[in-house]
Amino acid sequence: MNSTDFIVVRNDLQQCKIIETQLPDAGALPADALLVKVTRFALTANNITYAVMGDVLKYWQLFPTPESYGNIPVWGFGEVIASKHPGIAIGETLFGYFPMATHLVIEATDVSKRGLRDGAAHRQNVSPVYNSYARVSGDPAFAGAQGDYQALLRPLFMLSFLVDDFLAENEFFGAKHAILSSASSKTAFGLAHLIHSRTGMKVIGLTSASNVDFVRSLGCYDEVVTYDRVSSLPADVPVAYVDMAGSSALRETLHRRFGDQMKYSGRVGLTHRASALEEAALPGAKPHWFFAPDHIRKRAKEWGPGGVEQRFGAAWAGFAPNLDRWVRVTECRGRAAVTQAYLDTLNGRVPPDRGLILSLGE
Ligand SMILES: NC(=O)c1ccc[n+]([C@@H]2O[C@H](COP(=O)([O-])OP(=O)(O)OC[C@H]3O[C@@H](n4cnc5c(N)ncnc54)[C@H](OP(=O)(O)O)[C@@H]3O)[C@@H](O)[C@H]2O)c1
Repeated sequence: MNSTDFIVVRNDLQQCKIIETQLPDAGALPADALLVKVTRFALTANNITYAVMGDVLKYWQLFPTPESYGNIPVWGFGEVIASKHPGIAIGETLFGYFPMATHLVIEATDVSKRGLRDGAAHRQNVSPVYNSYARVSGDPAFAGAQGDYQALLRPLFMLSFLVDDFLAENEFFGAKHAILSSASSKTAFGLAHLIHSRTGMKVIGLTSASNVDFVRSLGCYDEVVTYDRVSSLPADVPVAYVDMAGSSALRETLHRRFGDQMKYSGRVGLTHRASALEEAALPGAKPHWFFAPDHIRKRAKEWGPGGVEQRFGAAWAGFAPNLDRWVRVTECRGRAAVTQAYLDTLNGRVPPDRGLILSLGE
């Protein structure tokens, strides 16, 4: 039996292809291993960032490929089709980090009622979130359309939740306006939704001209400004900038415009992939990468067992009801559709109201 894998050239993401790799027979699986059929997964700009950062953040190590290629990690669902682990039954549904492929062999370890981890040696050099799987069989929150929203938005909304919490804990560093770039991205509008519900903060979204109507329609931005109009923003109000776009030129323009009124400048994403290697020293707060695992660790310590999950669950419960209005799930099934979906995502051709759910199975 084979797995169908979608792989990309690591240093030229425009080049991609589909290969077949051989899977072990069910009987030949090692002890405790699972053979999982990847049933569906989400693809957004975040996955492109995983590819851009594949070497630096070790994402390419997670799902081995022929040399110079990489398999981009995606969030989605799998069904156990063979199991050598006594506690995991055939037919179970898992939610977690998968390759763009039809199958994955998982070496199940740390199995509990709620989840398990892939103990494969090549997956141990990354944050634990990237080798954990939730056991979600029969959980309505992970079924049907709700499941699509989980794959599309849950990992992104975790970042939104953490940035909002970090900013609020620091009283927004004295800022009165939060400015978010790539305002149409799912990560940004999740964050806008959270900040918008806080009193005293105004949320300004920066976006491309083609995405203005969508961003306005969300209702969680107080103001929407296109990238070419940022110099129209009032410069005498203290601001916090959260950068999803990753454009050095935009960052520099904002820092020079706001000067000392730039109270916080956090880097989160790279949707525009337009960051210079060397960046000029800028006025205002020094730009820094927001590193989510550090903030989770801090809160896990302060809030105790289950504290992050419980607060995140409450935030998700307030966010998820909007998704029927905000996101149109579009299914892309089969090799040609997955290839097209990837190239469209890579090249910024996916309308922001779309949520792409892919499957390589025909
Ligand atoms: N650090 C972390 O832990 C973390 C966690 C979650 C997300 N993120 C980052 O946040 C960013 C947003 O991710 P997402 O999955 O939420 O994105 P998404 O929903 O797929 O965002 C789509 C939007 O991104 C912009 N965009 C995408 N591709 C583009 C391209 N090729 N050229 C120009 N603009 C492009 C466009 O927005 P505009 O027209 O509005 O610019 C587009 O509407 C990613 O860079 C992601 O890696 C980081």
